[in-house]
Amino acid sequence: MAKEKTLQDLFHDTLKDIYYAERKILKALPKMKRAAQSEELKAAFEKHREETEGQIERLQQVFELLGKRPQGKTCDAIEGIIAEGEEIMDEFKGTAAIDAGLISAAQAVEHYEIARYGTLKRWAETLGMKDAAKLLDETLQQEGKTDEDLTTLADKVANPAAMEKAA
Ligand SMILES: [Fe+2]
Ligand SMILES: [Fe+2]
Repeated sequence: MAKEKTLQDLFHDTLKDIYYAERKILKALPKMKRAAQSEELKAAFEKHREETEGQIERLQQVFELLGKRPQGKTCDAIEGIIAEGEEIMDEFKGTAAIDAGLISAAQAVEHYEIARYGTLKRWAETLGMKDAAKLLDETLQQEGKTDEDLTTLADKVANPAAMEKAA
């Protein structure tokens, strides 16, 4: 018979998933910054790269609270989301629509992270891991703010720039 698995096992597995994803994102953000045309978007990607370093440290603290060593587990979802972002970079490189495309790719990443951190935070609360829940919530708030800032940049800068040539 299969060994019984619990919410704690799910929590640990999902923690490994997002740990893997964050380290992938940390590597992808400088490429997105280079591909971006507007200084505002370059600055937004740089800011989020720095935040991501802190998020990885928070995850390491959560592993510690769980009594486990920090370890990643291949996350097919983030691989796919990042591959789609690279496709946009290839196909829209140097065009007026590149920033709008980069923002769409970045928002797919943020929404994946928001889904993961939302679940992890709730599981931590359920498991009575208050300190872990607090750490996960800090990152969840940061990802949500990043998503909102990207929407603002899309409205103010990237989408209008992408429209110009068609007008
Ligand atoms: Fe993140
Ligand atoms: Fe993020």
